[in-house]
Amino acid sequence: MYVCVCRAVTDRQIREAAMRGARTLRDLRRELGIARECGSCAACARDCLRAAHAAPTASASSRQSCVA
Ligand code: FES
Repeated sequence: MYVCVCRAVTDRQIREAAMRGARTLRDLRRELGIARECGSCAACARDCLRAAHAAPTASASSRQSCVA
């Protein structure tokens, strides 16, 4: 699922970034460009990142937490 439409970033890419060590929205912004344009994805991206750290292998849970 696309989390950031402006930069075409998916929840999968966010989970992968989390596995590489991304901890904050700032990390996602630097690595993937999340929230650099309109910013409407920030809350969803944060939720996806939080879910990735809570259950790194449970991809379905992070998908359900983001409503884009
Ligand atoms: S949807 Fe992410 S910056 Fe616009």
